[in-house]
Amino acid sequence: MSQPLRVGVAGLGTVGAALIAQVARQREQLAARCGRSIEIVAVCARSRVKNRGVDLKAMKWFSDPVALARAPDIDVFVELIGGAGDPAKSAVAAALDAGKSVVTANKALLAKHGVKLAALAEKRHVALNFEAAVGGAIPIVKTLREGLAGNAIDRIYGILNGTCNYILTRMEQDKMAFAECLKEAQRLGYAEADPTFDIEGHDTAQKLSILASLAFGSKVDQRAIYVEGISSIAPADLAAADELGYRVKLLGVAVKTPIGIEQRVHPTMVRKDSAIAQVMGVTNAVTVDADGINPLTLVGPGAGGTATASAVLSDIGDVARTQVGYTRLAHDRLQNSGKPEFCVRTEPFGRPTARLTSVRKAPMQRHAGGYYIRLQARDKPGTAATIAKRLAQQDISLESIVQRHAKDGSGPAPKIGSVPVILITYATSEDAVRKALAAVGRDRVISGRPQVIRIEKN
Ligand code: HSE
Repeated sequence: MSQPLRVGVAGLGTVGAALIAQVARQREQLAARCGRSIEIVAVCARSRVKNRGVDLKAMKWFSDPVALARAPDIDVFVELIGGAGDPAKSAVAAALDAGKSVVTANKALLAKHGVKLAALAEKRHVALNFEAAVGGAIPIVKTLREGLAGNAIDRIYGILNGTCNYILTRMEQDKMAFAECLKEAQRLGYAEADPTFDIEGHDTAQKLSILASLAFGSKVDQRAIYVEGISSIAPADLAAADELGYRVKLLGVAVKTPIGIEQRVHPTMVRKDSAIAQVMGVTNAVTVDADGINPLTLVGPGAGGTATASAVLSDIGDVARTQVGYTRLAHDRLQNSGKPEFCVRTEPFGRPTARLTSVRKAPMQRHAGGYYIRLQARDKPGTAATIAKRLAQQDISLESIVQRHAKDGSGPAPKIGSVPVILITYATSEDAVRKALAAVGRDRVISGRPQVIRIEKN
């Protein structure tokens, strides 16, 4: 058997600890599958004394991730520090520059610097693997990069944030309050250090930017994404969705349109009988619409230590199978040609970095689809007519309109003299909906902000 693959791990949080435990648990199976053993030989974290429930005795300790990244006695650098800036960024760059393959779960880093780091990996002929950055244990990166290399992709959408799906599920099923569900998600280790990142949709947006690049061959560009989170979703919306045959999910959607790629993250109504609507709790799911295989849905655990460690380990396994450690390779296998002989994936986004295109962004105002609109309407003659007139002026056609009795108990606490009105539109444009609602607002027939949730066809 070949030499062991020597791994250095920076960051020993939930994922790092789960990775160390899994490598120990799967030692023999990994060696059999990869043709060589995988050994975590060095680690780096802020606290040396913290009990992480794993045995670190045999591992060399580093307090500086960049020093670990450059250490001559590791073959692969695993970055589990997180964050788009330093030290994660400089450590990953240092490892790549030193000719070491990198495995990372860092969506923020890839969303911001993915293209530059991929170019560096290509230049140094090493891998930059990031299966764990999107969808936890779901192998969506490999699916897009390899499994669907021969398919044209029209749309990719998914539930990419376990925390949000967990919150929406508990709110719907257990009638719990938003804040209580969020606390529970934090306790279970799903949420980011700053949970606003999850609930305001930014975590989903980072993941979507990576998927869109893999799906459409464009440069990762998080700025091209329209983002709305779930913090405005009220129990009344979940109840109304249920009655109307929908469920509310926070989706990340990237879709090819005639005017460019539309990338958006927002709470979305999906039909209750669709595959994505069945995905509950912390589970993630990604659906790909591609020519000839439409739709393909992958579902699995999307957050938490074990799920993420599973993807990290699969990436390490890929390196073990394909790359003889750089330093050892220089010694053992650099033969007469003087060229490295290893075979390693050096196109992190599935094509040479130089061939990734700039995103042609389809503006959100041009988005077309159905809409759910909940208004708190003045309970006076003429209100419904005014609302209908404003919608008609924008050519918006209604599929259904429900006016609730102010005291039916399913809506928010009724304001005196106002009633909740719920509208479902046929396909229209974002621009038309915004204009119609602005006009309704000026007419002073509603109170508060209208709630608008887009409906995704699936
Ligand atoms: N906070 C993330 C989530 C963790 O809830 O999905 C995985 O990226």
